Amino acid sequence: MKTKILALSLLILMTLGSLYSQPAESSLSTDSLTLMPWPQEIEVEPGFQIIDTDFRLAISIVGGETKAGAGSRLENASTRFLRYLTDKTGTFLKAGYPVSGQVEGATLLIEIEEKAVLELGNDESYELDVLANKISLKARTDIGALRGLSTLKQLISVQNGAFGFPQVKIKDNPRFPWRGLMLDVSRHFMPVDVVKRNLDAMAFVKLNVLHWHLSDDQGFRVEVKNLPNLHERASDGMYYTQDQIRDIVTYADERGIRVVPEFDVPGHATAILTAYPEYASNLNLRYSLERNAGIFDPTLDPTNEEVYSFLDTLFKEVTPLFPDAYFHIGGDENEGKHWDENSQIQRFMAENEIPDNHELQTYFNIRLEKILSKYGKKLMGWEEIMTPNMPKSALIHSWRGVNEGMEPGESLIKAVKSGYHTILSNGYYIDLMLSVEDHYQVDPMPEHELTQEEQSRILGGEATMWSELVTPLTIDTRIWPRTAAIAERFWSARDIKDLDDMHRRLMATSQKLEGLGIRHIQVREYLLRNIANYKDTGALSDLVKISEPLKIYTRNSGGTQYQVYSPFTLFADVCTPDAVDVIPFEKEVTAYVETANESDPVALKEYLGKWATIYERLLQIEQDAPLVGPVLPYAKRVRDVSTLLLEGLDEGKLRKKDFVVIQDLLQEKDDPRQNLDVELAVKDGILDLATFLSDK
Ligand code: ACM
Repeated sequence: MKTKILALSLLILMTLGSLYSQPAESSLSTDSLTLMPWPQEIEVEPGFQIIDTDFRLAISIVGGETKAGAGSRLENASTRFLRYLTDKTGTFLKAGYPVSGQVEGATLLIEIEEKAVLELGNDESYELDVLANKISLKARTDIGALRGLSTLKQLISVQNGAFGFPQVKIKDNPRFPWRGLMLDVSRHFMPVDVVKRNLDAMAFVKLNVLHWHLSDDQGFRVEVKNLPNLHERASDGMYYTQDQIRDIVTYADERGIRVVPEFDVPGHATAILTAYPEYASNLNLRYSLERNAGIFDPTLDPTNEEVYSFLDTLFKEVTPLFPDAYFHIGGDENEGKHWDENSQIQRFMAENEIPDNHELQTYFNIRLEKILSKYGKKLMGWEEIMTPNMPKSALIHSWRGVNEGMEPGESLIKAVKSGYHTILSNGYYIDLMLSVEDHYQVDPMPEHELTQEEQSRILGGEATMWSELVTPLTIDTRIWPRTAAIAERFWSARDIKDLDDMHRRLMATSQKLEGLGIRHIQVREYLLRNIANYKDTGALSDLVKISEPLKIYTRNSGGTQYQVYSPFTLFADVCTPDAVDVIPFEKEVTAYVETANESDPVALKEYLGKWATIYERLLQIEQDAPLVGPVLPYAKRVRDVSTLLLEGLDEGKLRKKDFVVIQDLLQEKDDPRQNLDVELAVKDGILDLATFLSDK
């Protein structure tokens, strides 16, 4: 029976020749597609629509005008689509703008039913039908059409030497309504253009929330006219004017991206207290902007009524800048040291029967919730705000995990079981410098018994880009391309999880992101040129391919090796997680070990031979490039390991003594600076090879 079903399925598959929803299951033709996020339903036909100069785009609002009003979200997105298409393919379009009133002759017809007001839960679904000479994109809302346009941009490919669109039929909608990226602009300020280009990239991979972390110990980044000390004294002059904020919020809205601001209180408040020290829990300190990384003690005084007047003034002025319903008040990592040390606060707690600091913070949060609701906002905060007395209207942002002594998903499950809506960031901390695979394998929906209703309270997730170790120059290299894979986790079906296929599509997506202005590739090349002082970067580049920045905050452990004004143009800043030579090298090692060196390991020797020359090549430029000097000891160890292994491969075995030397050379040094704050990412492959050769 089973065989019959299998045979029948095969027959159907062969007849249709094209129907599947998962790239991993079939490589018939989806292996030529590099969409990310992968759509919910996709059929691929053999045809290909070539892009030529007659390509015309028209918009129709069903039952309404034939053309969306000038300046509308969809019309502007359509114009950007045409620009992207033109630049990507070099085609001189006769109609470089959406054509009006010419729906019949359009190559691409976009049909929508309504223009949406951007909010949580917008209908983002769309249907895309690419035929030989016509493309139909249908969506209920303009937001859905925008998502479809992103898909269409990603579909541009080459067949038989020509640019075009493969024939596909797509039905798509997101798995989760909240798909965010958090940008910390406090630790390092990110100018408007950085935010904008990242919004473009977010839209490209269908992320729909910019969570803007605007205040922390290291800086307050918003102009507040009624509390001018905030931007004048607590930002080093690096803040967004209100016009700039409005500009960015509009820019995001045009891309179907909500903006949720975060003003972190009562902890992470050094900047606020630098501006207004009278609201501190410790009134004896002189506050100044924090220059190190870490968790600090300055905290607002929740027992001081004037603190609430201050926050009311702040929220009254800033809430109109952010039309979204949600407003993030932070609330994380307040250890309450200054509360413990303040006798007046202790007396207040005793008089009001507030048993501990956590409940004192709840008292504070509930006061804030009332202020925010006066201004039409829903309160959102990091998971520490969740206490029995917190109103269920609050949105809980789950972030803590094993590093903080929590079970994965612990607070997420607790939140939904207690009746809160929640989003997940634990597992998506891209500043931990972990491999994309680590993030991709985390699902916002935990493997845990949850009712339908509880599941529906999990709204999605956010990647978090904390900026202690990034600058406007390097931030793109930390966000992209990994965040594209996280975006897929938030949008696509749970069973889209084949790692090889993810890597294949991620590599293509990474390249496409350059076309949107993302600088993750070019900046690393520039940084190499800077280290090499414009001499030959080849050796450094070879070393970067096998090196990754230290992970899980072991770079800058203690928070004082780097201050906010330290150089972030060092070797470690060029390196990224997922160093490109790691997977191919490990595959070669596995193949060699499994075939017990029956054939000459040409590829392995090529890798090791290349690595063995890095040190000598660096010596040739060192005199003219002072930044190369610190790289030399690490490069020398790489040379020594590679040379010993090459000899081992030539002889077919490794002496025990040499194996010990290799192990020794691979030891991480106690002082991370000796390792340039990087780790040798091919270490496991090298050890496997060395072990195999020494066992013989
Ligand atoms: C956090 O990472 N402190 C929310």
